[in-house]
This record gives sequence, C-alpha cells and structure tokens, in this order.
Amino acid sequence: MSLSHQPLMEQFGAEVSGVDLVAEISDDLLDELVDALYTHSVLLFRGQHFKPADYARLLHRFGQPKVETRKQFNIRDFPVVSTVGNIEAEDGTPLAFFNRNGEAWHTDGTAACHTNAATFLHAVEVPKQGGDTMYCSTVYAYETMPEELKQKLDGARMLCSFHAHNDKIIARDPDSHAALTPEERAALPDVWHDIVQTHPVTGRKSLYMNRQPIGFDGLEEKEGNTILQQLYEHATQPHLVYRHRWTPGDLIVWDNLSSLHSATDIGPYENDRRLMYRSLVYMTPTTHPLVNLDEINAIFTDSEGKGALVLP
Ligand code: SIN
Repeated sequence: MSLSHQPLMEQFGAEVSGVDLVAEISDDLLDELVDALYTHSVLLFRGQHFKPADYARLLHRFGQPKVETRKQFNIRDFPVVSTVGNIEAEDGTPLAFFNRNGEAWHTDGTAACHTNAATFLHAVEVPKQGGDTMYCSTVYAYETMPEELKQKLDGARMLCSFHAHNDKIIARDPDSHAALTPEERAALPDVWHDIVQTHPVTGRKSLYMNRQPIGFDGLEEKEGNTILQQLYEHATQPHLVYRHRWTPGDLIVWDNLSSLHSATDIGPYENDRRLMYRSLVYMTPTTHPLVNLDEINAIFTDSEGKGALVLP
C-alpha cells in the first residue's frame, strides 16, 4: 500500500489521506507512516474520531508512550492519553490542561533525555474561532542558517529543566494543575542536549531548542540565550509557518527532532470549548534512551495505575 500525501508547506509537512487510524493498523502501514513522519516531520490526518482506547492503541504501535506529568489530566483507564484545552466540570474543576500562555514556540520533550519523540494531538472539540496550532521545520531552519553560526553551535549544549518551565506556569496560574510532589520532581532531572542534533533515522541535522535553558556548555550564558532567541526568530518566520485550523477528528503527529510548534492566542475562544487529546511517544532508534521510562510512568500514574480524569 502506498499512502497518498499532499504537502502542507514547501519545506515540510504532509496531509495523509486514505487511512483509518481508529482501526488496527498493519505492520506495513505502520512502517509507511513512520517513514512519512520522518520524511515530512508533521503529518495531518482528517476524519479520525478516536475513543481514548483507540488512541492509546495507536500510540503503542508507534513506540512507548509517556504518561504526562500533569497527571490529573490523564484519562481514566488510559493514562497515556492526556487532555489539553479549556473544558471544565460543572464545579469549575479543569478537565484539561489549559496553558494560558498562548503563542510560545517549543519542542516537546526537551526536558527528558530521549530525543526521538513524536507528539500526537487530536481535536475532539474545537471552538468556533481560534485554538489553531502552528508548526515550522527545524531542519530547514538549520539548513538556512549562516555557516559561521553552524560552526559556533557545533558541539554546543544546553541544560534543560522541566521545572524551570512548569514552576513558572504554576506561579502564574496556580489553578492550572496540581504542583508536583517531591517524588515527582525528582523523577524529572535536568538534562543536557546538543543544540544541533543529527536525526537517528534520516541523518539530517536540525535545531533542538528549549525556551529557558538553565545553563550552556560551549557558549556563555548571555550569548547562548541571545543565539537561541535568534534561532527561534529565524525558524518561525511567518512564511515558514504552517498554521492549522482544527476540525473535530483531525490528528496531527509531529517529529519533535525536526519541528517546532506553538499554540495560539487563547483570547478568541475564552468563552467557547476546546478539547484535544495529546500524548508524547518515545520512538526508536534514539541516541539517548530513557532507560527508566516504566518507572517514571508509574510515578505519574495514580495509585490504582489507571489515570485520573473522567470526562463527562
Ligand atoms: C502543545 O503545545 O503541545 C499543544 C498545542 C495546542 O494546544 O495547540
């Protein structure tokens, strides 16, 4: 079988049609999908109306899903499926993680060592306006960077911290999610990453960036932060960005080694509902396996091993 693709952008991205990912997928189809993901970096599928069980099954086909750290938003019985959006229970309890930050370009998973990770984001409910997600290619960004900057970044590393990012969200919006326990914090240690990565499958070089590294190796701190800011601006120039307007049933899967993504301003849909399923899947091969993922996943799963969230 050969998948049918339409490009999303000249530099990256493809809409894949003619597949039903809600049903079980064959090994041959899986190989084609993984190949397409590494080739195009961002894949869009339409008309996929997942139940959490179908979604969890699909994630496990691609690799080892991570149980999200904001565990109150991991769906009961399917803790590898997490929610983002703004829906709430009748008493105002959030039923999805709502990051009010709006636009903030990033790569998922840079605060863990396993770099070959794909994010799955699926639209369940979408607002009438807004709630779009944006993407760009960090392979294209690397390829179009000045030679002297490539040389400067050769071997440069950044120290990434989940807590540097998450503590700020909690400080700004204490009701957004429960603060991590000491055991949960300890399970997420800081990690060094090369800023320029070589993809373990395609061999292509790309920029791997973190918004607020807590240290640099091979760059002075001020210089490192200035360069990262320039790299974000270079990668996210408006003509290089694909902006997706969601329809219920859309699924976008992206390769975090070769793309950046960003949510958009929450203003247009503050009085409307948005619910997405979001999961991160660790794929192989990878240069830095997360050897204790099962242990970490257990820490972020509730005491009955089931996940916490019951959607109405
Ligand atoms: C994300 O940043 O992973 C989610 C983006 C979105 O909700 O649009």
